[in-house]
Amino acid sequence: GDVGQVARTGAVPPGRDIDELVAAAHARGLRHAEGTVADYIPILAQVDPELFGLCVVDVDGGVHEVGDTGARFSIQSISKAFVYALLCDALGHEEVFDVVGVNNTGAAFNSVVAIELNEGHPGNPMVNAGAIATTALMPSATAEEKWEAVRNGLSRFAGRGLEVDDDVYRSESLTNQRNRAIAQLLESYGRIRSDPAEAVDVYTRQCSLLVDAHDLAVMGATLADGGVNPVTGERVVSADVCRDTLAVLAASGLYERSGEWLFEIGLPGKSGVAGGLVTVAPGKAGIGAYAPRLDSAGNSVRGQIGTAYLSRALGLNIF
Ligand code: DON
Repeated sequence: GDVGQVARTGAVPPGRDIDELVAAAHARGLRHAEGTVADYIPILAQVDPELFGLCVVDVDGGVHEVGDTGARFSIQSISKAFVYALLCDALGHEEVFDVVGVNNTGAAFNSVVAIELNEGHPGNPMVNAGAIATTALMPSATAEEKWEAVRNGLSRFAGRGLEVDDDVYRSESLTNQRNRAIAQLLESYGRIRSDPAEAVDVYTRQCSLLVDAHDLAVMGATLADGGVNPVTGERVVSADVCRDTLAVLAASGLYERSGEWLFEIGLPGKSGVAGGLVTVAPGKAGIGAYAPRLDSAGNSVRGQIGTAYLSRALGLNIF
């Protein structure tokens, strides 16, 4: 039902409706100007750092949004969660578990040392190594077919056809030497079966897909709703796949900050370096946030503040 209904069982202040709470969460986030915009992908540094949108979509498709929820940005690492879900749906729990893993590495998202310390195993699908391995496993004969499966699958989560930002794709392709090195390192350990350069190229395109905070909320609501997009009514993945994906997000969705996030917010979430953040309240709603300034682990500062407020105000913490 409506998050408002869900919230009545939680800690919602009496007399305040959900739109007011989203507005209050947004106002809370606006007070924060800490953090820095990502610049290791040069084009990301050109964004307006003040942008901030916050959107809740509940599992009945109800929308509550405030601020810059229509401002588009590249999905970046948030794509990892949804490609992982698509892969689990295609290949099954066991095979993906063996190849990609589910444990937090305790290291940065682009760590090479973490791979070395783990005998070439990527660790989990939310760090770059695991995400590149995940994309490489998508069951298609050619890189072009893999890309179409990824783009089409993420579009079904969002409920609209997603398009690549060509400038972001180009900027990242020119500066992703580290990801190419990671893919070759995985290949040297026999952990990647397809051509590593092709896998990185599909991964880079997937990271360049444009979304807004509203799209992220719909995508999150689809995971909250057991795999059915509550806006289109389409089943995108199975309920089992949602459960597996949310467990992985809880452990690693905010990288080495995942413990702090779970402690404060108590919900699975996933961040991206363009400033997007998706959070899932299972059975209840998806929360999409966008604000480009990041903490030192690469997570949106205002997005975290706004989401924390909503988690408390709506009683969403699953613990
Ligand atoms: O591969 C990269 O470095 C980027 N395309 C994505 C990294 C990212 O979003 C990390 N998240 N906070």
